[in-house]
Amino acid sequence: METKEISQAVIGRLPRYLRYLGDLKDEGVERISSQELSERMKVTASQIRQDFNNFGGFGQQGYGYNVAYLYDEISKILGLDHKYHFVIIGAGNLGKALGNYLNFERRGFIFKGIFDKNPDLVGQDVRGVKVMAIEDLERFLKENPVEIAVLTIPKTSAVDIVDVLVDNGIQAIWNFAHVDLNVPDGVLVENVHLSDSLMKLSYNINRRKTEKDL
Ligand code: NAI
Repeated sequence: METKEISQAVIGRLPRYLRYLGDLKDEGVERISSQELSERMKVTASQIRQDFNNFGGFGQQGYGYNVAYLYDEISKILGLDHKYHFVIIGAGNLGKALGNYLNFERRGFIFKGIFDKNPDLVGQDVRGVKVMAIEDLERFLKENPVEIAVLTIPKTSAVDIVDVLVDNGIQAIWNFAHVDLNVPDGVLVENVHLSDSLMKLSYNINRRKTEKDL
């Protein structure tokens, strides 16, 4: 497979392809044309072909894509053929909700620990994992291989905790705190702002209203 630089826009679309291909696999579909996939996903067939061409195409002309093969290849491109261990910092509403979400394991993300500064939460069970005191984080990271930290704490706390994470081997931060984090080169940060998606929705609601009024 080619390993040329792939645009972030294409990478951003791959998880959606993977979801649809996973559903097709579950339905027992073995082959699918770009046209059929396009109808299901409501994107153009040419977009699908262009996206897949970044990786050498995946398909044989006129024969469609092999669903299981395509699923495996996209999984590999996304690095999902590896296992990753993650800890959650902040056992509030969001931290617990993420800890309770089983599907991360299905994708190879293993929930190893959850930490909070509130002593009342320490010892509570989140899907078989006991909430630990934040003071135990450093020791835990030294003793356990953990690649990813999920930050579900307020922004000031997030800024303060970054050094502890980075100094103890965390390679990537899934950051839900509303702040841009300063990390050394080599540490990855993926910011998530659910409200961005909501604002997109509000933009589209208003655009539709304006179109109707015209
Ligand atoms: P929450 O108040 O239920 O939970 C926050 C938890 O973090 C509390 O249990 C608190 O004790 C703990 N905490 C605070 N400082 C800490 C520290 N230094 N070390 C360890 N634990 C610490 O809040 P919720 O609803 O779970 O939200 C968490 C954060 O995520 C909030 O700051 C919120 O603004 C943000 N958020 C971001 C979203 C996004 O889309 N990016 C969506 C929802 C919330």
